[in-house]
Amino acid sequence: MATLVTTITETLRYRGKIGQWSWVFHRLSGLGIVLFLALHVIDTSWAAFYPELYADAINEYQSPLFTLGEFALVAAIIYHAMNGLRIIFLDYRPHLWHLQQKAATYVFVATAVIIVPVWGMMATHVANFWGDDPEFASLGDILNTQSQFLIGFIVIVLVALVLSFLYSLVAGDEKKAPKRASQIDAWLWTFMRISGFLIVPLVFGHLAMMHVISGVFDITAADATVIGTSATNDTGLAVEFVGERWDHLVAGVAIWRVYDGLLLALVVVHGFNGLRYVVNDYFHNPIVNRAFNWVVVFGGAALIILGMGALLAGVEETAFNIAIDKAGISQTFNTWLGG
Ligand code: HEM
Ligand code: HEM
Repeated sequence: MATLVTTITETLRYRGKIGQWSWVFHRLSGLGIVLFLALHVIDTSWAAFYPELYADAINEYQSPLFTLGEFALVAAIIYHAMNGLRIIFLDYRPHLWHLQQKAATYVFVATAVIIVPVWGMMATHVANFWGDDPEFASLGDILNTQSQFLIGFIVIVLVALVLSFLYSLVAGDEKKAPKRASQIDAWLWTFMRISGFLIVPLVFGHLAMMHVISGVFDITAADATVIGTSATNDTGLAVEFVGERWDHLVAGVAIWRVYDGLLLALVVVHGFNGLRYVVNDYFHNPIVNRAFNWVVVFGGAALIILGMGALLAGVEETAFNIAIDKAGISQTFNTWLGG
């Protein structure tokens, strides 16, 4: 913890030029995306397991507060991806290391150049949606949902701390001799680079579908074509949107399930391993360090199981009907139900 405070104060004091700021922004953007990802995988799983709540989650995504967050999220991903590609490229080109400072500056410039048109396109979707005078989720509802996530997170951390304390009573925490970086860590170092490279097209493809070509608001647009399929969202319900995408077959393969599954596995392992680096940098007390490592490892595994479970289960007819009931829609929707 003291290390975290020192990092913050020294980051502000130390004049390490642009390289220092790239490190800070890379870390902060990575952490911001991980936080979003954890919430996002949980609420996407509701499309399969808890459709009433999924409608509320998407409704909150469409509120002005979340819209601001989405602009920040997109900027964070663009910066993290560009800077990550710089790190990967230069890691394998030591003879170019004297150009690090220049490269870090180019990354900031390139990020700004990409952000301007992307934000412009996102703003067009926002303006169209707000022009129709929609009903937004209230701030009270948003705080209510998000505080439940926060309480859940605090409980998980407290349970991990207690278990780690009990573990130290039984197994002891005597200092071990410093080990050389393990084989797993060396492998993870390479994995961070390979996964980062593969995530670029997957995450930008996903964001293009959800933000740029169509927007977050099109998830609930009735009678609109569902992006990446030839189907129509007859009801304008978010579960139908997801159901259509997950059921869309190309040559007998549910391509969006495969796509989401790949994205899920890569971003969760990459993001949670990045989180592990941050935890190990700042928390050195053995009980706290072990507890936080457990939260990261088991939390990441739980997210992958939950997300893959939702992809395998898909959006069932019953889930769809529950969502229809909740929305109070009385027509029959033969197209989606395959009639
Ligand atoms: C606010 C911006 C975003 C929106 C509106 C959005 C929307 C969606 C939607 C509607 C789905 C359901 C499946 C589908 O239609 O393909 C989904 C799934 C998914 N998204 Fe996003 N997404 C956003 C940002 C992101 C980002 C930044 C990441 C990665 C860091 C991400 C990773 C995923 C993953 C892994 C799944 C599959 C989850 C599962 O298997 O349960 N999304 N997203
Ligand atoms: C878009 C493509 C991406 C690329 C090219 C990329 C690349 C990288 C690279 C090269 C590192 C440094 C690894 C190391 O120090 O060994 C890194 C760290 C990290 N990444 Fe990514 N990444 C990407 C997407 C993501 C996503 C989607 C997340 C969140 C789910 C994420 C979260 C993190 C975190 C938390 C760290 C650790 C930061 C630190 O130690 O300061 N990254 N990334």
